Amino acid sequence: MAKKAEATYVGLDIGTSKITCVVGLHQEDAAEPSIIGLGTAPTTGLRRGVVTDIEETVSSITAALEEAERMSGTAIERATISVDGAHVQSLNSRGVIAVSRADHEISREDLLRAEEAAAAIQIDNNRQILQIIPKNYIVDGQSNIADPVGMNGVRLEVDTHIITAATPALKNLDNAVFRAGVTINDQVIVPLAAAKAVLTKRQRELGVVLMDIGAETTGLVVFEEGNIAFTTIIPVGSNHITKDLVFGLQTTIDVAEKVKLKHATAGRATSKDATKVSLDELGGKGAIAKHEIDKIVQSRLGEIFTMAVAELRKAGKDSMLAAGVVLTGGGAKMIGIADFAKDAMKMPVAVGAPTGITGLTDKVSDPAYAAAVGLMLEDMEQPLDNLSGINNILGNAMGRVKAIFKSLMP
Ligand SMILES: Nc1ncnc2c1ncn2[C@@H]1O[C@H](COP(=O)(O)OP(=O)(O)OP(=O)(O)O)[C@@H](O)[C@H]1O
Ligand SMILES: [Mg+2]
Repeated sequence: MAKKAEATYVGLDIGTSKITCVVGLHQEDAAEPSIIGLGTAPTTGLRRGVVTDIEETVSSITAALEEAERMSGTAIERATISVDGAHVQSLNSRGVIAVSRADHEISREDLLRAEEAAAAIQIDNNRQILQIIPKNYIVDGQSNIADPVGMNGVRLEVDTHIITAATPALKNLDNAVFRAGVTINDQVIVPLAAAKAVLTKRQRELGVVLMDIGAETTGLVVFEEGNIAFTTIIPVGSNHITKDLVFGLQTTIDVAEKVKLKHATAGRATSKDATKVSLDELGGKGAIAKHEIDKIVQSRLGEIFTMAVAELRKAGKDSMLAAGVVLTGGGAKMIGIADFAKDAMKMPVAVGAPTGITGLTDKVSDPAYAAAVGLMLEDMEQPLDNLSGINNILGNAMGRVKAIFKSLMP
């Protein structure tokens, strides 16, 4: 696809605890994009990944944008943004059509018609299609065809992964971004954005789960044989650990958060540690044994991984994933989490951070910035003549338009 010789791309991750804005620069001769700006701001206007207070969300977005603009020396007008929350649902759907041309040569129009056929699904009135991701084309029964255009056939089928979301949640999000002065280029769910930044092609081929543990949501995506097999977002996250500490330690949310960040570990070896942790130093009162903290933390963490495994099992995607689990999100920064998750999920586990970028890598090589970097990389794949700004008008059709563009990409 044609790209400007030098252009900037923006990822805007609107999380429950923070907004992150990543600006990337792509120079024509460079193999990898360079990160030239990062802005973050705490959020108060979201609950479980969904905007509940537009005003507060607008001011958080604005603060993150301003910082990213200052650092990068660019004015941010457009961005690819995240969609988060348990209202996001997904399904796999197959579309089947008869090839239209008399000589049976498959055209781009046939591809689009097949995708339209796959998208003809029953969805509730207050939901809409967010993305249609073509995975596999089948021509006259022969599968695994990457690009059937130009081939000959009578029957064309396409396997797609379709992501739907609640219309009111999307409207509030769009509204907040619009009021912060940003035009939306594309919208991508958090786990897919994080996967874009951290997973290698080989991991996707082997079979892998990406699990993004945020503040109040945990996103999952499974790749098999290079394709998306399953996505979901569950309404639990690392803030639940903090809340458990509030009750367990009889302290405030601020002290509990500090205890979690400074002292909590999920590692096996420390589970009997009787060292006392002073809460006075953290603004609280008294002291607590380290193993008491870890007990509370590990109990909730265990529950989060159990829920994740249950989701994978329900979808039949809890085995045969040779590349195991890759963790991202702020919640993945807890010390010892990889070993803990390995026991809980019975799969190899690693913590992932964005790769394949240059520039301010020391700043963004952080599991908590995986989604924002992935959104910036998605932004880079937008066609120059994209239809941004019309998604409010097009509503449902936008998903289709995006799928059409994606299908036209080489
Ligand atoms: N070093 C750390 N150890 C443990 N937890 C951490 C650490 N750093 C951040 N966290 C936790 O990670 C969570 C924030 O993660 P993240 O920034 O990915 O969330 P978010 O994107 O704002 O929220 P969400 O994705 O749920 O909408 C908070 O609960 C925070 O306490
Ligand atoms: Mg997040």
